[in-house]
Amino acid sequence: MLNILKYPDPILKRKAEPVTQITDEVRRLIDDMADTMYEAPGVGLAAPQIGRSVRVIVIDVNSKEKENKELICLINPEIIEQSGETVWEEGCLSVPDYTADVKRAERVVVKGLDRNGKEEVIVGEGFLSIVFQHEIDHLNGVLFIDRLGLIKRDLIRRKLKKLARTESI
Ligand code: NI
Repeated sequence: MLNILKYPDPILKRKAEPVTQITDEVRRLIDDMADTMYEAPGVGLAAPQIGRSVRVIVIDVNSKEKENKELICLINPEIIEQSGETVWEEGCLSVPDYTADVKRAERVVVKGLDRNGKEEVIVGEGFLSIVFQHEIDHLNGVLFIDRLGLIKRDLIRRKLKKLARTESI
């Protein structure tokens, strides 16, 4: 299991680079990310969260179930269509012990490459739509707490930074 970076690590704020060539190293990264996600456990993980500033995400909305696991791995994912509006209480492996309601699109269509470089188009509705948006945000250096109202955001940022300072002493 890889180490998951926590807010306010500066790598989480960086815009990740596209993958230009799908090598064995990229495939190994995907496998390690999937293992780390299941182990955490979480329903999604983006490469910047494990310190790699590249555009790779793994998702499994059934991650905590024993059966019916449904792993999605996408390289250079892009939202090509979005519609509707919904609010979910989100959390993040990089922002432990904190959740908040975030407004997102209800449905997204995401395009990306699979581990063999084949183009995939996936429709995400409901919770899967939320997770897609959350993970792709990570690739753009955006955390769910950045999407909260200003007052709430300032409050939680200060609280989290204080917490990070205490923990690193
Ligand atoms: Ni996250």
